[in-house]
Amino acid sequence: LLLDFDIAKQTPVSKYEVSPLPQVYDVETLGTQEVEGLRNIGLDAVGCGTVAAVIMSGGQGTRLGYPGPKGMYCIEGLPSGKCIFQIHIEKVQKVRMLAAKHNSSESLPSIPIYIMTSDLNTKDIVNYFTSKNFFGYPSDDVFFFEQSLQPCLTFDGKIIVESAHSLSLAPDGNGGLYQALQSTGALDDMIRRNVQHLHIYGIDNILTKSVDPTFIGLCINTNSECGNKVVWRANAAEKVGVTACRDDRMCIIEYSEIPPHLASVEDPNGKLLFGAANICNHYMSLQFVRFVVLPSLTQSYHIANKKIPYYDPVTSTTVTPTKENGVKLEMFIFDVFPLATRWVVVQGKREDEFAPVKNAPGSSSDSPDTAREMMSAQGRLWLTKAGAVVGNEHGCCEVSPLLSYEGEGLSQFSGVVLTPPFYLE
Ligand code: UD1
Repeated sequence: LLLDFDIAKQTPVSKYEVSPLPQVYDVETLGTQEVEGLRNIGLDAVGCGTVAAVIMSGGQGTRLGYPGPKGMYCIEGLPSGKCIFQIHIEKVQKVRMLAAKHNSSESLPSIPIYIMTSDLNTKDIVNYFTSKNFFGYPSDDVFFFEQSLQPCLTFDGKIIVESAHSLSLAPDGNGGLYQALQSTGALDDMIRRNVQHLHIYGIDNILTKSVDPTFIGLCINTNSECGNKVVWRANAAEKVGVTACRDDRMCIIEYSEIPPHLASVEDPNGKLLFGAANICNHYMSLQFVRFVVLPSLTQSYHIANKKIPYYDPVTSTTVTPTKENGVKLEMFIFDVFPLATRWVVVQGKREDEFAPVKNAPGSSSDSPDTAREMMSAQGRLWLTKAGAVVGNEHGCCEVSPLLSYEGEGLSQFSGVVLTPPFYLE
C-alpha cells in the first residue's frame, strides 16, 4: 500500500489518495434530544427483530498468551469472575430488555447472535457455551459459523508443514467473515429471520456497546450501508487502524501499513488529522453485505510476518521458531468499506467504548489489567453520577451489564456507601 500526504498543502498525494474524514458524528456533541431520537430508532429496529450481533472470535489471540479462545478468558481481579463471552452476551440481553421497555412489550425481542469461529477453536467455543447454558441467552438465537483457514507460507512462498501429516494453517483473517456467512448458512438464517442490520465487532474489547441502539439508530437514520465506530487515537504510535477517506469513500488503513508520517500529521490545533481509530466495531446493512459485498469479493490478502511452527524431519518434531520465519495471509473485514456509497463514521469516548484485551497480563497497554481498570472506572463514574458514595479508589467496581447498559437505572444507589471491590448484579 503506497500512501503519501503533503503536510504543507494538507492534501493527499500518490495514486492511493487518502484524505481526512469530511465528517465524524460525535455523539457527545449532539443534543440530548437528538441522541434520544437516534436511540429510539435503534430500539425500534431491535423491537422489530431486525438487528443481529456478529461477534468475531475466529482469531488466535497469540499476543495474550492464553491457550484457548479469547472469549473464554476471565480477566483476573474482576469480582464477578465472568469471561469475555459472558460480558458481551449479557450486554445483548440488556438491549433486548431496553427495547422491550421502549416498545412497551411484555416479551423480549429476538436478537440473534452470530459467533464467528475457526477450525482451531469451534469445538472449544461450542462446548463452552453449552456447559455454561449459553449464559442464560436463548440457545436458538446463537449461531456459530466457521471461517476458513489458509496455509502459512515461507518468505519465498512455500507452504509450511507443521507435522509429518499436517500443514501449518491459520484463520484467513476477519475479512473471511463474508464468505463464511454465506458458506455456513448464517446468511440464510439472517434472511429467514428478516435481519436487516448487523452490528459486527471483535471479541476482545470489553467496553464494546454490543448492539448499541444509538449507533445503529444513527446508521439507519442516515440510510448508511456501512458505519464505523471510532475513538480518537491516543497518540501517533497507537496500534490501531486509521479511518480515512479515499475517492469520497470510507477506508481504513491498518496500523501495520500506515506510513509513520501520515500517522502523525496534525491539524493546526495539534489534533491528529488521521485520528479516527478503528476499534473493530462496525455496522453493515444486510442489503449491503448481500448485494454489494458478496458479489464483489476478491481474494486479496494482507501479509503478516509471523513465527510459524514448522516440522523438522530430522528430529521428527515441530519446532517453534524464535524469530519470524514466514507469513500468514489475512483478509481484513474493512477492505470492503470503500464499496459503500453511503457511510458514516461515529465517534465515541474512549473511556466508554474501548478497552481491548490484546496483550499479556502486566503489559502497560491493551492488557487484561488496563481493561479491568477501565471497566472499573466506568462503573465508579456511573455510580457516583447516580449519587452513590464509592470508596477505596484501588478496588474494582463492577456493574453487571444486566443492571445497567450505559449508566442508566442506578438511582437505587443514590446515597448508598459502596466499598470496592464489589460486583453489582
Ligand atoms: C483490529 C483491527 C484494527 C483495530 C484494532 C482495534 C482488523 C483487521 N484490524 O486489529 O484496525 O485498530 O482491531 O482493536 O480488524 N479475528 C477473527 N478471525 C481472524 C482474525 C481475527 O475472527 O482470522 C477477530 C479477532 O478474534 C478479533 C478481531 O477479529 O476479535 C480483531 O482481530 P485482531 O487480529 O485481534 O486484530 P488487531 O490486530 O487487534
